Amino acid sequence: MSINIAIDGPSGAGKSTIAKMLARKMEYVYVDTGALYRSIALYMIRNGVDMQNSAEVAEKLSGVDIRLAYENGSQQVILCGENVSELIRTPEISMGASKVSAIPEVRSFLLDLQKDIAQKNNIIMDGRDIGTVVLPNADVKIFLTASAEKRAERRYKELHEKGDPSTYEEVLADINRRDYNDTHRETAPLKKAEGAVEIDTSELTLEQSAQAIAEAIEKRLKLKSAEKKQEPSARREMLDFSGIRPVTDPKKYSRVKLFFYTILRAIVTLVYKIKFKFVIVGKENIVQTGSVVIASNHRTDRDPIWGSLAVRTPCSYMAKEELFKGPKPFVALIKFMGAFPVERGSGDTGVIGTSIEKLQIGRNLMIFPEGTRSKDGKLGKGKTGVALIAALAQVPVVPMAICFKGEKPKFRQKIIIAYGKAIRPDELKISSSDLRQLKEVKKKIMGSIAELVDENVNKL
Ligand code: DC
Repeated sequence: MSINIAIDGPSGAGKSTIAKMLARKMEYVYVDTGALYRSIALYMIRNGVDMQNSAEVAEKLSGVDIRLAYENGSQQVILCGENVSELIRTPEISMGASKVSAIPEVRSFLLDLQKDIAQKNNIIMDGRDIGTVVLPNADVKIFLTASAEKRAERRYKELHEKGDPSTYEEVLADINRRDYNDTHRETAPLKKAEGAVEIDTSELTLEQSAQAIAEAIEKRLKLKSAEKKQEPSARREMLDFSGIRPVTDPKKYSRVKLFFYTILRAIVTLVYKIKFKFVIVGKENIVQTGSVVIASNHRTDRDPIWGSLAVRTPCSYMAKEELFKGPKPFVALIKFMGAFPVERGSGDTGVIGTSIEKLQIGRNLMIFPEGTRSKDGKLGKGKTGVALIAALAQVPVVPMAICFKGEKPKFRQKIIIAYGKAIRPDELKISSSDLRQLKEVKKKIMGSIAELVDENVNKL
């Protein structure tokens, strides 16, 4: 299977220069799809076709024969047997290409050619609709932008060096017009593809832009190959939330505590594996470095223990105050496991503060937003506290699902503990503790738990 990298963006953002540089370095084939539209514009101009007249352009396409050839790794466009690579670089052709590219017949005429080359080679392909239409399953998608003024400044310099008499104002007007055409056409308009990494090069030099893209590509390819190989450890490395986790007052566990915790975890896991058919899935989604909220459905008193078994450090969790009045060894044990007391039914606000403190010192926090256990396994509505905590602490939320049939699991019954993909604080759009927004956030978190539950109850 070939590797496909799609780079889209407006004219003059630096796509072709950078894509060419990277393709050479990575030994990939570089495909400049703009050149294809440009060649069609040239063909139409040569044949006296009015490019505003879609029907006429569509009719003339039958005479167009375009091939791509490579000379020392550099793309050459052969139009009806003639190498037109240089001829298509004029402002007149740029404008013509923008016009013909809005015609659906032109786009479908070029689609197979582009798909075909991508299927046969490792490629970096640049254009406007590569990530959205031509290669929606590309391994990496980049959306490269820059302000219109910056792009005009660069293009002006380039043209000026070639002896072109256009003024800066003319170049800027041309870029604005082309931006308008490219983003407003009905078929395959220029827009950021889903899952694309956006890079703004306005304030970056060419080298810095290339570096940023190279890093984005490397990161995505690594993640892709880890996903393909289903290597949880490699994927785990990619769960890099360090920049957004404000661990203000890190407190590490002592080695002795971690040692005993690891042994305890292994023994307890073994006990549950013997007692039940106990399966943990989605371990790669756990952010082992701590400081995330693990939000789960609530089925039994043992949920906090079951949910902690795949995590290498103790998870903090709220427990009923009564439990702390029990026998001393038991209290010591649950404290050791990360429990802290909450006064039930009293609207204990201090618990929010304690929860945030736990996250700020680098602990994971396990929350059961429903508050009470669900006997039949149906997920309740959940309380907004989980959203408030995630909002105030600005931490990712990992959904968790505890699944088994019936009210209480019986001996050797199957239990699935599943972890879902972490939701980043920016995805949750948490910016304030406004109640309406919090409700939305809570809904999103509950939605991801519900999805995970649905997905896994089917496997019971
Ligand atoms: O990237 P460029 O400036 O050489 O592209 C010329 C024109 O072709 C541009 O106005 C938009 C259009 N184009 C397109 O619509 N889809 C592509 N994949 C590539 C270019």
